[in-house]
Amino acid sequence: MEFVCNKCGHREEITTKKVKCDCGGLWKLDYQPPKYSPELIDEHTWSLFRYRKFMPLPGEEWRQVTLGEGMTPVISFDEHTLFKMDYYMPTLSFKDRGAAVLVAYMKAMGIKKAVQDSSGNAGNSVAAYCGRVGIQCEIFVPEGTSDKKIRMIEAHGAKAVVVPGNRDHCADVCREKVAKEGVFYANHVYNPFFYEGTKTYIYETFEQLGHIPEHIFVPLGNGTLFIGIMKALEELLASGVVDHMPQVVIVQSEVCQPFVKAMEAGRKDVAIEAVQRTLAEGIAIGVPMRSGEILEYIYKYKVQGVTIPEEGILPAREKIARQGIYCEHTTAAVYAGYERYCQQYGKPREALLSMCGAGLKSDHA
Ligand SMILES: Cc1ncc(COP(=O)(O)O)c(C=O)c1O
Ligand SMILES: [Zn+2]
Repeated sequence: MEFVCNKCGHREEITTKKVKCDCGGLWKLDYQPPKYSPELIDEHTWSLFRYRKFMPLPGEEWRQVTLGEGMTPVISFDEHTLFKMDYYMPTLSFKDRGAAVLVAYMKAMGIKKAVQDSSGNAGNSVAAYCGRVGIQCEIFVPEGTSDKKIRMIEAHGAKAVVVPGNRDHCADVCREKVAKEGVFYANHVYNPFFYEGTKTYIYETFEQLGHIPEHIFVPLGNGTLFIGIMKALEELLASGVVDHMPQVVIVQSEVCQPFVKAMEAGRKDVAIEAVQRTLAEGIAIGVPMRSGEILEYIYKYKVQGVTIPEEGILPAREKIARQGIYCEHTTAAVYAGYERYCQQYGKPREALLSMCGAGLKSDHA
């Protein structure tokens, strides 16, 4: 199994220290999982590693890494709306899916030290799993990241470095350190093993429901959940266990909507956006690094997009909190996006929404 560049097709062993291709492209994994079959699921493993036969894991290190992530319930919020409760995971967000698999790969590669940049949740998650297996790590977060997320990163034994400026600048500062010091970049956007973890969002849903819902609503920032979902759907389709793609709908904020704008203009790449502050901090990404790849999926599978106004976030959060679901602002944005979609297109018969982050992690004045 090898990494292959998403721009020029250049190949490297998965043991490479290069964080990306010399041409500037990012790595994809050249890996085709076996055809889906329930017998390939390890029903004795109560974590997302039960689907490990569909992942290119390089060793057995996952056994030391796992914290029981995944296996989140799908609940019926109302007659037509299903919530996948991904904030029920060890560090309270969907990022644990990707981080568990990424750190299992890192451990197998013998990595001792790593850096990562994050709006918070991915940093929490990478810090927790690195802590679990003794990998020293430093997480760069942009100023304005909630104190709770920073304290959690530190509690796992990682160093949190708060970088003045926005999320995109924070990533630049972290990447400079990677380029200068050659330290391992445990990044959820760059490293393709992360997507092998987020893929399980769909494998799990399929095992739980026995089918894939007709509509799937996904928050879109850098696309780590989106790409995982699309890869897994393609894999199920290629296996012949589903016969068509569901209608995937991406949710972005009105103040940061590079993909929705590109889709409206029919462009093959996004125009870089200066990010304004939004409560939906998880999707405030003006420079998504895999934008070309994401737009290819969008056009190929006729993905739809919806944006939410800033003032839609808190009412959505309050509405679902009244029914027991206390999610973070970025997650409330997914619900607000779903409601806006229903107003524009009518209520889908069955929609799956990601409850991707926990309410206890984010606050507002
Ligand atoms: C709670 C939450 N939802 C959604 C996202 C967006 O994920 P992605 O940037 O991978 O598209 C994030 C990213 O940090 C997040 O923390
Ligand atoms: Zn290349």
